[in-house]
Amino acid sequence: MCGIYGYIQSKSQKKPLEQCLDGLKNLQYRGYDSAGVATICDGDLIAFKTVGKVDLLNSLIGSKKYELSMAIAHTRWATHGGLSTENAHPQIDYQNTLALVHNGIIENHIQLKQFLEKKDVTFLSQTDTEVVTNLISYFCNQMSIKEAALKAISMIEGSFAIVFIHKNSPDSIFAIARSCPLAIGICDHTSDVYISSDPSSFSSSSYHTTFIDSDEIAVISNSSLLIYDFNGKIKEKSGSHLVVKNKDITKDGFDHYMHKEIHDQSFLCREILQKRKHQDSFYFSELKKSEQKIKQTKHIDIIACGSSYNAGLIAKEFLERLTLFPISIHLASEYRYTFHLDKKDTTCIVISQSGETADTLAALRYKKETFLQTIALCNVESSTLTRECDLFIPLLVGKEISVCSTKAFTSQLLNLYLLGIHFSNVLGINHQKLISEINNIPFAIDDILSKENIIKEYAHKYSKYPFFLFTGRKDMYYTSIEAALKLKEISYIPAEAMPAGEMKHGPIALIDKNMATVAFIGNEEISSKTLSNLSEINARNGQILLFASEIPSHITKDVILINSNGSNTFAPIPYSIAGQLFSYHLAKNLDREIDFPRNLAKSVTVE
Ligand code: M6R
Repeated sequence: MCGIYGYIQSKSQKKPLEQCLDGLKNLQYRGYDSAGVATICDGDLIAFKTVGKVDLLNSLIGSKKYELSMAIAHTRWATHGGLSTENAHPQIDYQNTLALVHNGIIENHIQLKQFLEKKDVTFLSQTDTEVVTNLISYFCNQMSIKEAALKAISMIEGSFAIVFIHKNSPDSIFAIARSCPLAIGICDHTSDVYISSDPSSFSSSSYHTTFIDSDEIAVISNSSLLIYDFNGKIKEKSGSHLVVKNKDITKDGFDHYMHKEIHDQSFLCREILQKRKHQDSFYFSELKKSEQKIKQTKHIDIIACGSSYNAGLIAKEFLERLTLFPISIHLASEYRYTFHLDKKDTTCIVISQSGETADTLAALRYKKETFLQTIALCNVESSTLTRECDLFIPLLVGKEISVCSTKAFTSQLLNLYLLGIHFSNVLGINHQKLISEINNIPFAIDDILSKENIIKEYAHKYSKYPFFLFTGRKDMYYTSIEAALKLKEISYIPAEAMPAGEMKHGPIALIDKNMATVAFIGNEEISSKTLSNLSEINARNGQILLFASEIPSHITKDVILINSNGSNTFAPIPYSIAGQLFSYHLAKNLDREIDFPRNLAKSVTVE
């Protein structure tokens, strides 16, 4: 996955190493296993690398003043090779002539390594990145740097973004990509050049921005930007104008970004409802031009991963009831490898917080041409997903920093509900009863937030359990899937979600006094059924914590009352937020690294 950054000074006085470190901090959502930076100083390659986060690089670099014109940098999420300095990027080649940073996966790295080993090329790391570093270096002995890079990428299988520097061209940065984002921004005011996996990580300013398309190579200096195609021919690219406002996002007095982001959800939902309000209903102006296509639609496909997928799962039945379209929901990581009946007239909604999830992008690209229209429901306007979909609906929740998604998930769910209402408006289907219910969502969120201390007490009580089962029925089961994911991510405690009615078909064998069950009962029409299933767990000494709208004292004393403000339909939002608070306080009690949990990255940019 990883984040790539590069900087070339032109008219400003900015220091390349400091500038790269600043930029990297904005990219740590792409991984934080290790960080590194490299440059060329007086003809020598210099690199600083560390296991862990970017801040650790400062002390390595120390106070020595380097006279530099450019630098490249990297923050890593390990794919090949463990967490060590040798495996950190930049990788240096066997001839000590070039330093390279990489995002993506070189699928045929084993064959390429064998090819190079036969030429007596030696390796120091376990990374696929070192293979491409040495491959380019090897060909540099026979041809120009640009030709060597093009020759190397003609041999590479996989998707990647690569940025490197070479001693023989000490003022240039070379950048190559295939199906991975890599943007080059030239600052309007200073002409300084920024290169990044994500242009929103550029310093606050305005830029002429160009994305490198597949199998192109850019040769960048402070006086020129030349982009060549796969055959080495110059390409004219128009690019676009980008304004970056990188405000420092603070925790506002909370201990963790996750906690702040949970609390932001009440006013964010109010703002989203306000923005979409139209006459006595809700409306997406972004979809104005697609009304004809909505009327033509016969199916909706939803594609997403992780929490974004869970938002789709929860909303599916609501959307089906409201639009009367059959809805299929797909895990993006499985999509390309599964058989799909070609359905005519399908609107595809792709959900992603980051808009950079490789599985999601690959799934979109796989069938994009067959869809009637594609809608990105995404938090990042400049993302690859929003650029590749026909239409874009923003989540409007601001930057989400915590790896564990909270406010973005809630906005995805709320926006899916609102999309259902928009679609039914266009189709002339009545839904008036829902309008007042959906307007009550922020009040239900306020109510949950006011119960935080009770949730915290239970979270402490339950933090001794080694295994959790989350359960519910219908949309409460899907809500429990999301709650289990939250707990796993930040507490590292195994948690499984199971429909309450399925327990007796096998999983009930797991129940004993050491197993904690967290149950969500937010759908009154089926609550008696869920309670019967919980009685079966109770009878086997399982410990039960209940999130419910009333107290069924015969099951358990551990009940957190949830007031969904009269709405069963939208109850998944307050119940999910209750689940977020529960996981947060449980993980905090266990002293976990909540905002940046081990092994994870905010944006998963490899398949
Ligand atoms: O950026 P995306 O929404 O596409 O990311 C998808 C998942 O990786 C993401 O939701 C992940 O599951 C979160 N860490 C969950 O909290």
